[in-house]
Amino acid sequence: MRRVAVLALAALAVVLATAAAAPAAERGSRIVGGAPTTTAQWPWIAYLEMEYDPETRWSCGGSVVAPRLILTAAHCVLEQGTPLRPRMIAGVVGRTDLNAADGVEFGVSRIAVHPDYQRDRGFDGGPFDVAVIEVNVDLPAPAIPLATAAEAAYYAPGVVARVAGWGLTAQGGKASDVLLQVDLPIVSDADCARLDEIPQSEAAKMICAGRAEGGIDSCQGDSGGPLIVLAGAETPDPADDRWLLAGTVSWGYECGAPNRPGLYARAATYTSWVAGLVAGDPVVWGRATDSKPPTVRPRAAQATAGTRVELSYRVSGETGKTRETITIRRRAGGTVLRKLTTKLAVNPVGRDVAVRWKVPGTYGGAYVWCVSSRDEARNASKPACAKLTVAPAG
Ligand code: ARG
Repeated sequence: MRRVAVLALAALAVVLATAAAAPAAERGSRIVGGAPTTTAQWPWIAYLEMEYDPETRWSCGGSVVAPRLILTAAHCVLEQGTPLRPRMIAGVVGRTDLNAADGVEFGVSRIAVHPDYQRDRGFDGGPFDVAVIEVNVDLPAPAIPLATAAEAAYYAPGVVARVAGWGLTAQGGKASDVLLQVDLPIVSDADCARLDEIPQSEAAKMICAGRAEGGIDSCQGDSGGPLIVLAGAETPDPADDRWLLAGTVSWGYECGAPNRPGLYARAATYTSWVAGLVAGDPVVWGRATDSKPPTVRPRAAQATAGTRVELSYRVSGETGKTRETITIRRRAGGTVLRKLTTKLAVNPVGRDVAVRWKVPGTYGGAYVWCVSSRDEARNASKPACAKLTVAPAG
C-alpha cells in the first residue's frame, strides 16, 4: 500500500532524529503516559491512513469486528461533514512498528457512517462517533466482541480500561511509530458530564476515562481505536478471560490534561447497528459510500499481421491505481485468442494509455478487443469493446 509505506518512511525519519537527540529516559516516556505494546497483544487493532487530497492527510485507529469489517470513528472518515471515498483510505493489521513491512495491508470498498452521528457540531467527536469500513481482503485478525449494555459491570466507573494506538505521544507532540497502550480508569457519567462540560444524556452515550491528575490519555491519531475491558476475570478459570470493546476513541480536551477525561463512543449504543452491518443487512448498509468502478473506453485499432499494434484506451473515474484486462477475440462472443493484463498503475486522467501487442502472422481479418478496468478495491468496470482490423501479412 503506497500511502502506508510513505507514512512509515516519514515515521522512520522521526524515529532516527529522536534516537539521535533525546536522552534514553526521555525516549522511554512514550504516548501520553503509555508504554510500547505489540499487535500480537492487540490482534484486532488496525492502523488507518486517510488522504482526502495530498495536503489533507491524517491517520486513525480501528478495530476488526468481522473478517472484512473495521470499526473506526465517524470523524475519521469525514472531511468537513463529507464522507471520504473508499479509495482515500488504506490500512494495515498486524504491524506493530509502522517502519516494518509485516502484517496485511488493505484497501476499502464501502464506508458506513453511524446515522446518529452529528456531523455539524463544529468539532470532531460526540455520541455515535463511529463508522464501519468494509475492506477488500479477508483479514487474518480475530474480531473483538462489542460490550453490550448487559455487560455494563465490565466498564463500570473505577474499572481500569486499556487503549492503544499510534497517535500523538503528548498534546501537540509527535505520532508514535510503534503501537503504544495505556491503562485508564473509567469515570462515572456524572463526573464525565461535569468535568468535560457535556450534558448528562450525552455522557451516558460515551465512556469517559482518565485520572484526576491527568498525564495518561489517548490523543490525536488514536481516534477510532479500541478502548477495551477484561471480562470473565471474576471466575477462577483463566479460560473465561476475554477482552471486550467498550468504546471507540472519539475526543477530549487536549491530551492528558488534569480533570479532563478522554471520551469514547460507548459500544453498547451501537452494537445492533454493527450487528446489522456484520449480517450484511442492505437497509443498515443503505447509506454507505460505495467505491465506484472506473470506466474505460477502448479505441478501434488497425494492424498488419506479424507486426505490433497499439491497443489504446482511456480510463476515467476517481483517481487511483487501476489494472486493465484485455481480451482479443475473432468476433464478438467468440473464444478468447489472447488475454493481457496490465500492471496496477495510475492512469493519466483524460489521456490514452496503450498496450502493445505483436499480432501473429497467421492473423488477418476482423477482430474485437475488449478491456475492463479494476481499481485497488477490486471494483471492476464492465468490459468495453472496439474493433481490431488486421490486414494479412504481405
Ligand atoms: N479526536 C482525536 C483523533 O482524531 C482523538 C482525541 C482523543 N483525545 C483525548 N484527549 N482522549 O485522533
